[in-house]
Amino acid sequence: MWFEILVSLIIGVLTFWCYRYYYYYSYLKVIPSPRAWPIIGSGLEFKNPEDSVETMLVLMNKFKTDSLRIHIGFRAIVMSRDYKFIEFLLSSQTIMNKGLGYKFFTPWLGQGLLVSTGEHWRTHRKMITPTFHFQILEQFIDVFHSNGTILIDKLRKHLGESSFDVFPYITLCALDIICETAMGISINAQLEEHSEYATCVSNMGRIIQTRGFNPFLHYDSIYKHSNLYREEQKCLQVLHGRTDSVIQMRRENILLEGSKKEKPAETDELGRKKKVPFLDMLLQASIDGRPLTNTEIRDEVSTFMFGGHDTTAAGISFALHSLANNPRVQDKAYQELKEIFGDDKERPCTYNDLQCMKYLELVIKETLRLYPSAPFYTRTAVEDFTYDGITYPKNMTIGILAYGIHRDPRYFPNPLEFRPERFSPENYDGRKPFSFIPFSAGPRNCVGQKFASMEMLSTLSRILRNFELLPATPKHTLKVAADTILRSANGMKIALVERKSK
Ligand code: HEM
Ligand SMILES: *[C@@H]1O[C@H](CO)[C@@H](O)[C@H](O)[C@H]1NC(C)=O
Ligand SMILES: *[C@@H]1O[C@H](CO)[C@@H](O)[C@H](O)[C@H]1NC(C)=O
Repeated sequence: MWFEILVSLIIGVLTFWCYRYYYYYSYLKVIPSPRAWPIIGSGLEFKNPEDSVETMLVLMNKFKTDSLRIHIGFRAIVMSRDYKFIEFLLSSQTIMNKGLGYKFFTPWLGQGLLVSTGEHWRTHRKMITPTFHFQILEQFIDVFHSNGTILIDKLRKHLGESSFDVFPYITLCALDIICETAMGISINAQLEEHSEYATCVSNMGRIIQTRGFNPFLHYDSIYKHSNLYREEQKCLQVLHGRTDSVIQMRRENILLEGSKKEKPAETDELGRKKKVPFLDMLLQASIDGRPLTNTEIRDEVSTFMFGGHDTTAAGISFALHSLANNPRVQDKAYQELKEIFGDDKERPCTYNDLQCMKYLELVIKETLRLYPSAPFYTRTAVEDFTYDGITYPKNMTIGILAYGIHRDPRYFPNPLEFRPERFSPENYDGRKPFSFIPFSAGPRNCVGQKFASMEMLSTLSRILRNFELLPATPKHTLKVAADTILRSANGMKIALVERKSK
């Protein structure tokens, strides 16, 4: 009896799989696909999720294609490094919703900008864009500096070692900076050994990634019964709890200041311009005449927390590793800083100084080309749409493989060479804007791009002014891995020596 049930169950599941497979196949058959097996789809090709982006490139090269169809479980996705298709997707005013994977962020980010859709996204994007105006960003240079001072002290402890991993230090510094700028609070991630808040932020990243790679946990009904879910609930309690109380406190502060006769002071006791964290701007913003709810504010603040620390930390760390291994580039970057600061290692850098770091900016571009913090991102359409003779069914996930187009010799000759000069005005005419998309492009591009560039310039210049970066001994080769962001599975090891003032 049970045998018959089992057999019919297996037949049922197999039939359903075949039905789903042919559903996608009938639409997308001209897009090459690695062999798909019942249920697991092309899972065998992606045994090691960390290697997923490299595997995609290997398959694209093998099939001589720029778009790849990948069957996973009962679904199929298309990943693309096709210039024209990427241009079409990123410029579209209708295909603006995010793919399936973003769902795993909603317990933390709610309806924040990164994941929201439709009218909610449109109104919030319009409200948030002005909070990233350069005059507002300018006041954060102070934070980059003070919080960077602790980083320099921490790095100094590794002077003379033949090899150490910089990534954890940069991550904690970036976390201090984003908490300070987004919420106006000091969580002391760098100073306290195990800040509860910092631990939860990093745990959330891991939880979301683990869930994303486990097709069973995609279903809420199964996920709700897992240990991972319980761990997520614990982290969310800490993260949301902290944000909620900060919102409460700031709201009261603003009310208090509003009730005073005179306008609140624009400068602090030392005469410096007063910093207004993003949170305060959200508290004072309105949408169609109504103020934002606490939940709306929390979602946006959490989104800044997530979107704004790992990404910049990875960018800075990959840049340090690349500089350490390319002495000619490092020297050129250092000479530029010498022209700006002389031998002064201490002088805080100003907004103007940042504008003068032209070469360092090329270094950052070249870093984000080879190591885009978001190696791919996805879209999904509400209706079927046709592009270049292929109809893509509604609801399916379509991936934009930034990592792929960034390493395509048609757009970047000798793509694996680290050569910042390829972005200099003489060499780069920007006529192919969709071949360089670390911050995405079009209506859903990164709102934090300017903030990120300033933070990266500030932190990198500070480190370079203090230390000469050397390759680790024994030589350390990065093992690029795609999680929620691009990182290196074996760390980012370098060595440091103090710069002598000559
Ligand atoms: C090197 C650093 C960064 C990189 C490489 C980066 C990259 C990106 C990319 C590729 C997207 C598009 C994602 C998608 O289409 O799904 C994006 C969106 C976004 N980023 Fe960034 N980002 C960085 C830093 C930041 C910072 C510092 C913040 C905030 C303080 C931030 C906030 C956001 C937000 C809110 C969105 C969603 C925008 C929307 O959908 O309207 N990012 N970022
Ligand atoms: C970060 O910078 C802010 C603003 O300058 C400062 O108040 C805070 O103490 C700094 N935090 C750390 C951990 O350095
Ligand atoms: C599309 O996705 C939505 C939300 O996940 C779902 O409710 C709907 O049934 C899907 N439609 C199709 C045709 O798959």
